[in-house]
Amino acid sequence: MKKVIYPGTFDPVTYGHIDIVRRAVDLFDEVVVTVAVNPSKQPLFSMEERIEMLKESLKEFDSKVLIDSFDGLLVEHAKQVGARAIIRGLRQISDFEFEFQMALMNRKLSGDITTIFLMPHERYTYLNSTVIRNLASLHADVSNFVPPVVHEALKKKFPRK
Ligand code: COA
Repeated sequence: MKKVIYPGTFDPVTYGHIDIVRRAVDLFDEVVVTVAVNPSKQPLFSMEERIEMLKESLKEFDSKVLIDSFDGLLVEHAKQVGARAIIRGLRQISDFEFEFQMALMNRKLSGDITTIFLMPHERYTYLNSTVIRNLASLHADVSNFVPPVVHEALKKKFPRK
């Protein structure tokens, strides 16, 4: 059983993240999508809200995708859930430096867990959650970039006056 873990802040989940999950599901038996507590970020959505949106957005994958959260070291959580590898999405060259550093540090911390990079479809290369939050706060239409459940949640966070 080849299980992998896909960590991120998912504040909120976008079609870019879902594209990565779809690719991972094609390659592995089980994908654990794990929401990180990242002390350097102040999320718009609570942990519970992010998990709920992920559950709704990823329900087409059934039991091949599990959703959980963690607070601590990623490699420790990966071991706890029995994952053999960490999935990360690479959208553009600018992602590479940070991702390369993180992959090497994680390998130093735990030599038996490999980082695997997957590239989302080109249409998502410019997408990130900050852009989505900014657009939504200005009441721009983000329905091409996020699933309906996220679109509705963003409308509630940023109601039109
Ligand atoms: N499509 C769209 N957007 C994507 C994307 C994709 N395929 N992949 C990443 N992004 C965006 C995210 O939305 C996020 O946007 P934002 O910064 O505007 O919110 C940004 O790219 C960063 O990606 P994300 O995957 O959320 O990573 P992160 O930097 O928030 O989290 C962790 C990285 C959680 C994996 C890392 O901090 C971690 O492992 N923490 C645990 C502590 C630990 O073990 N530290 C040691 C590591 S060496």
